[in-house]
Amino acid sequence: MADAMTPRSPDETRLLERARERLPGGVLGTSRYADDVGFVVKSGRGSKIYDVSGRQYIDYVLASGPLILGHAHPAVVAAVREQLEAGTTYFMVNEPIIELAEEICRAVPCAEQVRFTSTGSEATFFALRVARTSRRRDKVLKFEGGYHGAHDYAMMSSAPRSPKAFPAAVPDSSGIPRAIEDEVLIAPYNDLATVEGIVATHADELAAVIVEPFQRLIPPQPGFLPGLREITRRYGVLLVFDEVVTGFRLAYGGAQQYYGVVPDIACVGKIAGGGFPLAAVCASEELMRPFDPQQDGTGDFISQSGTLNGNPIAAVAGLATLRELRKPGAYETIHGTGKRLMAGLGELAQRSGLPAQVVGEPVVFDLIFTDEPVTDFRSLQKGDSTLGRTFTTELIKRGVVKNSQKMYVSLVHSADDVGVTLQACEDALKVLPKGKKRRPA
Ligand SMILES: Cc1ncc(COP(=O)(O)O)c(C=O)c1O
Repeated sequence: MADAMTPRSPDETRLLERARERLPGGVLGTSRYADDVGFVVKSGRGSKIYDVSGRQYIDYVLASGPLILGHAHPAVVAAVREQLEAGTTYFMVNEPIIELAEEICRAVPCAEQVRFTSTGSEATFFALRVARTSRRRDKVLKFEGGYHGAHDYAMMSSAPRSPKAFPAAVPDSSGIPRAIEDEVLIAPYNDLATVEGIVATHADELAAVIVEPFQRLIPPQPGFLPGLREITRRYGVLLVFDEVVTGFRLAYGGAQQYYGVVPDIACVGKIAGGGFPLAAVCASEELMRPFDPQQDGTGDFISQSGTLNGNPIAAVAGLATLRELRKPGAYETIHGTGKRLMAGLGELAQRSGLPAQVVGEPVVFDLIFTDEPVTDFRSLQKGDSTLGRTFTTELIKRGVVKNSQKMYVSLVHSADDVGVTLQACEDALKVLPKGKKRRPA
């Protein structure tokens, strides 16, 4: 096995060129690594991925989160292999998807019924449609810096370059109709007073408050989620938890269990599909009734369909993943690994003299290059993003791959992985430019 310092092979160089010819930017979405460390994945197994040059990386991207059991987990592979022989998709109700719906309802406190989609983006899009149908109002409130996928209502102030005064929304993408901006109100995360002011002013036109209960990397401050619950209830606005990241990750019952607050509607995805395209909207029977085709013609009917909705391959992969997560000690193991990484990284950051801190929960976190408290999007933006990108690049050179501003921890990251990762972090921090100094404690 080549180590990460091995030069890129001619085959991989050619593949990267072909990617640039046929894929805009040579990538699949918005993430892009520096040119000198870009690579083409060949395979993944456990906590590692391997590129076409044969180099090995400890993987903290985990396919952007679904692979909490690591790559090619034997239980997932066996379940998928068996289902493949019985057909790959039906566009009809099937046993695995019923079982997965039942398991989601057992796990997720607000769930009595679920509607499956293929992506988390669709799940949040339809969750907002459920809220508008129930409340007969159009506007939704989301938080600055919160990410709910790529649809027009979600792509508002998730990463504004020039934020406006609250509650005005800034579109994150071109091509979004101007009218959508007026339908989305923006509030600062972890700031209940501002939320309450906006909700009070717009209560009669507001259908929902949608929130990532743990926003990207930023934990909710004590009282924030209970406060949101109380304010939304008081003004008759529905509370939507986007648990696409947190579902089955912070705990088996997601953020609702971990933080002890139950919303009206939740969206799950990523882990629930075991590495295949699947997500879901979950809520009470009453809120979910408009999805029932028998409601067609009543004026309340929510039209929602998708070719791959209820896909049995994704269902068996999700069920196999959830079975592993229900085994005693699974969450203790994941949280334990994450805590060791967070503590080690925090100590290294302190010793480096750079203004940097570890932000997150043990299951998802990263090093942010500021020593000011990080509680919302604007304070997160104070982090030095150039240092952050260089840190990510230097880690890749040392065989550790992560997203910019996110490290996902899996059940299969070993004590050895933690040791190698922390050594790579120490070495990467040493080569970062030392222009800025930590404020004296
Ligand atoms: C919190 C959150 N919501 C929604 C989504 C969108 O999910 P998908 O990429 O499956 O459309 C994501 C994706 O990363 C997410 O992190």
